Amino acid sequence: MVEEQSKTTLDKILDWLDERMGIYGHTLRPSPRYGFRLDYWLGSFVLGSFLFEVISGMLVAVYYVPGDPYKSTVFLIQNVPYGGLLFSLHSWGAYAMVFFLLVHMTRNFIEGAYRKPREIMWIVGSLLAGLTLTEAFLGYSLPYNLISWTATTTGLNLFTYMPFNLGSLISTFTLLPSLPGIASDVDPLIQRFFVFHWIVGFLIGAVLGLHMYIFEKHGLTPPSTKQPNMPELLDEYPDKLRNDPNWKLQPLTRTFAMIVMTMMMVFGIIFLISSIDPFNIQATVSGLKYLMPAYNPALAAQTPPIPDWYFLFVYFFFKSVTPTLASDIFLAWAAVTALFPFIDQYIFRHKAPHPVMRPAAISLGAAFIAMFIVNSVWAGLTPGKDIGPIGVEVDGLIILLSFAIIMPTLRFLQSRNTESQGSGTTFWRSFSSSKALNRSMASATTSRINPKVLLRSLEFSAITLLILIAYITFRLITVLSEGGVTTILQFEGGQLIGTDLILGSMLLYIYVNFLGDQR
Ligand code: HEM
Repeated sequence: MVEEQSKTTLDKILDWLDERMGIYGHTLRPSPRYGFRLDYWLGSFVLGSFLFEVISGMLVAVYYVPGDPYKSTVFLIQNVPYGGLLFSLHSWGAYAMVFFLLVHMTRNFIEGAYRKPREIMWIVGSLLAGLTLTEAFLGYSLPYNLISWTATTTGLNLFTYMPFNLGSLISTFTLLPSLPGIASDVDPLIQRFFVFHWIVGFLIGAVLGLHMYIFEKHGLTPPSTKQPNMPELLDEYPDKLRNDPNWKLQPLTRTFAMIVMTMMMVFGIIFLISSIDPFNIQATVSGLKYLMPAYNPALAAQTPPIPDWYFLFVYFFFKSVTPTLASDIFLAWAAVTALFPFIDQYIFRHKAPHPVMRPAAISLGAAFIAMFIVNSVWAGLTPGKDIGPIGVEVDGLIILLSFAIIMPTLRFLQSRNTESQGSGTTFWRSFSSSKALNRSMASATTSRINPKVLLRSLEFSAITLLILIAYITFRLITVLSEGGVTTILQFEGGQLIGTDLILGSMLLYIYVNFLGDQR
């Protein structure tokens, strides 16, 4: 007590930060037993796609010439060995990263993973979301095709309406003299965007390091059904198991294997999609064709600007109200998202993590998700057309409806559960339907599935996967030896690599989670 009183304000601030970020140091920890469900690894999926973008981006950059961006893009696709596949991989990889990021964020919101002590984790995550969208915006501009550069210049123009002088900051960054070495019909701004694309990439890497450092301080958020008075790492492996020679996989090995598994899965998904649907590339037997025309100011004037799918929800505001008001709405949206942990704690005052116990937070979050979808579809269906104030009015209605329907429903569920509590049964137990929790708590005797039958079928699946992987690898070697480096065959190779990686990740998952965890 005395010690507490003698602390300076600075000490108290540092203690507050240490509780949330571990600034005085902490160590790597294995994943707890409940943490092997796939949704606990969604961040790893985002991380995997980021690593994929770093690797594929460096390869694409070898051939990219910012002085003549469009021609060098076409050259990469048509003339460089595996260039078409590489371009498609980097483009689809960006979509995968944004997509997994949105899913990761939504999942952490639903699970209440932003709550104390993970508030800063969430804020740093929001910063990562902002950086990722900026990186995608910059990357989208780089091929310098008609659609991408028209959208980029329109987007830049809209950003100049941002309040707090942010608009003039953007103008300062994009103001530049004409530079030597740039083709006459190319906007010199593209050179700077290429440099920014690298810089923002590095920033993502650095902020991601902080995200991971804080993550190691707290570990995973336990299932929200866990009883509040139990220790956080309820299911952490008991010490005596750690060095048990009969236990095939030690916790850290298992955690590491899961990381490898998610990377293989993400890489596989990107390879598969990029080669089944090459990005803006038409693959014919006679060669590859880039489907996007070059940028040209005369054509651009007749082309309705349409941003990439993840910016449609923002673009919607600009189609609906004046640019100044649209910028304010967008910034308010971003601020509410980033500061959500504090809104939940100090305005909504929710005391428990279960979604049913957070009615106001869930109503607001559901409204945001619904608005994101409605705005994106609406803006996508009306290219080049104004929507008018009806757009933001519909958004307002969505928020009202969300609160009017979800709040009372969750409150009703709360009251029903409280009423149905028998003595000794807590509210928490009645919501303990989480499969992960049940699985980790259930003993083999209470399980209805015969463990021997389950194991045998899993062994059968593992062997089948191994045979498939062997066959696909053999096909891959055949395709590669046919020398289709610049033709349609590169995409066939991509499909085989993608399938192999996905099957391999499934095999690893079965081994890590079932066959390797027998004691
Ligand atoms: C470049 C983008 C991002 C990457 C690579 C990333 C990566 C990760 C990873 C690897 C984890 C460990 C657990 C897991 O695999 O799910 C994690 C956890 C977490 N992330 Fe992210 N993240 C990103 C963006 C975000 C965003 C946008 C938010 C929210 C605004 C966020 C909030 C969180 C939170 C709250 C946790 C803790 C989850 C828990 O306790 O169960 N992250 N992140």
